[in-house]
Amino acid sequence: MGILDEKTFTKYLNQTDIESIVQTLANRLNRDYAGEKVVLVGVLKGACVLIADLSRYLKLDVEIDFVRLTSQGGKALKAPGTVSILKDLTTDVRDKHVIIVEEIIDSGRKLKFLFERIKASQPKSIEVLTFLDKKGKRLVDTPVKYVGKVIEDQFLVGYGLDLEEKCRNLPEIYFLKYPN
Ligand code: IMP
Ligand code: MG
Repeated sequence: MGILDEKTFTKYLNQTDIESIVQTLANRLNRDYAGEKVVLVGVLKGACVLIADLSRYLKLDVEIDFVRLTSQGGKALKAPGTVSILKDLTTDVRDKHVIIVEEIIDSGRKLKFLFERIKASQPKSIEVLTFLDKKGKRLVDTPVKYVGKVIEDQFLVGYGLDLEEKCRNLPEIYFLKYPN
């Protein structure tokens, strides 16, 4: 398992599970956007692995862009927290179909901010896709149309998800057995 201690981390999704979830998401996009152009907006850093895999299954006219956001304020706080943009879109999304691509949604704060920000650029449509959804943790509501898998509140690493910037490159997803 490399840098992961097996006593602390347990495998949660293997590569086959992940591939099948990504393929299912891609099939839905291929159906829903057949014949259309789409702009995939990946949220850095976590969505980098997913967007690489997902985009290669798409049989659409695809543009890819990335944004990077930061949020301040503890995750448990109900207060809105401050979200700001570190790297903005460079694509003009006006009159285009935009799909925000996230690897995981927790409180939904960052997503809400990004959704409103992109909406202001007057895209033809805007939808959200996430690989994992901690639905029970949502503090801020934004419609998420494409969900790979709904999960409990557990800390996961791998496939883009990090533990203090490490483990994003792991091809499988693990959960932390004993947080802290
Ligand atoms: P939120 O939805 O604005 O609370 O932010 C979600 C962000 O928190 C994600 O983009 C991840 O960077 C991070 N995150 C949430 N849950 C996990 C997890 O289980 N493992 C690693 N990062 C996570
Ligand atoms: Mg993180």
